[in-house]
Amino acid sequence: MTSEKKPRRIGVLTSGGDAPGMNAAVRSVVRTCIQYGVTPIGVYRGYNGLINGDMEELNARSVNGITSKGGTMLYTARCPEFATPEGLRRAVDTCRYKGIDGLIAIGGDGTFRGARDLAEHGIPTVGIPGTIDNDISCSHYSIGFDTAANTAVECIDRLADTMQSHERCSVVEVMGRGAGHLALYVGLAVGATAIITPEQPFNFETDVAEKIREGKYHGKHHFLIIVAEGTGKTDEIAERIRESTGLETRVTIIGHIQRGGSPSARDRVMASRMGHYAVLRLLEGDGNIVVVYRNSQIMHLPITEALSMKKDLDAYMYRVAAEIGI
Ligand code: F6P
Repeated sequence: MTSEKKPRRIGVLTSGGDAPGMNAAVRSVVRTCIQYGVTPIGVYRGYNGLINGDMEELNARSVNGITSKGGTMLYTARCPEFATPEGLRRAVDTCRYKGIDGLIAIGGDGTFRGARDLAEHGIPTVGIPGTIDNDISCSHYSIGFDTAANTAVECIDRLADTMQSHERCSVVEVMGRGAGHLALYVGLAVGATAIITPEQPFNFETDVAEKIREGKYHGKHHFLIIVAEGTGKTDEIAERIRESTGLETRVTIIGHIQRGGSPSARDRVMASRMGHYAVLRLLEGDGNIVVVYRNSQIMHLPITEALSMKKDLDAYMYRVAAEIGI
C-alpha cells in the first residue's frame, strides 16, 4: 500500500525477544532518517512505548557505538495490551499526538501483526525480521540468527571437550521456540550424532539409540545430541539414552546465553541493510509491509501475505546432518 505523504517523524521500536543485531538495525534506521531529513523517534519497550508515549527523539549521536552491542538500546517487551482494541486505540492516538507518521517495528511474527493492525488504522508501518529463531516464514533470514548460532556452537564446542574426556553423551537443548531451524543449523555445525526438532518426525531407536550403538562399535567414545526446545523432550531423550545405551549422559540447556553477546558481522550487515531499506520504503510511500531476505536479496512483502506464508525446515540440511553424523 502506498501513500502520497512523505513521513516527517518515523518511530522505531524493538519487540518480542531481543536478538543480537537489533541495535545495528536501530542505528541504521536513525542515521538513514537523518540523512533524508526525517526525525527519528526511539519508542521504548516495544508496543508498550506506543501505548504509554514512552519515546524520545534520537539523533545521529544517540546511536553511537551500539553496533557491537547485543540486546537492544530501546528495550523490548511482549505487550498483550496492544492486542486489545483499547490498547491499539491508545497506540494510534499516541502516534497521532506525537506526530509519528511512519513506524518501523523490529521483531517476529507477533510484532508484524501489531504493525499490520496499526497500518490498518492509518499509520504506515514496516516490519523488520529480528529473532534468533529464524522462524519468520516470509524471510530466509532474521537478525540475530547468525550470532545465536555461533554462540551456541562455541558453547557446545566447550562441552564437547569435557564430554570427550569423560566419554559421555551430551544432550544439548537449543532455543528456537516452536521451530527447529536454530537447532538444525547448530547441530550440523557441531557435528551432532542426532538432531531432534519439532518439525521432523524421529524414531528414538533408529535415529538415536542405534546410531550411538553403531558409533560405539566403530570406536566412538562420546556423543552429542541436539534437541530443539520446541520438542519439550530433552530430559526424556537423555533418560532413554541412559537406559538403552548405558552411557553416562548429561543435559545442558544453553538458554538465554544464546540471545546475548556482540552481534556477528553478518547480523550487523543484514541489520544495517534492512534498517536502511525500511526507511526508504516509508519515504517511497509504502506501509503495511515487511522487509524480507529472499534468494540473497532484500525486498518486501505486504504484511498479510508475509504472515500467511509457511516455512519448512530445510530438509536437505537435515539429510546432510543425518548422513554425516555417524
Ligand atoms: O523468540 C526468541 C526466544 O529466545 C525463543 O527461542 C525462546 O523460546 C523464547 O524467546 C524465550 O522467551 P523469554 O525470553 O521470554 O523467556
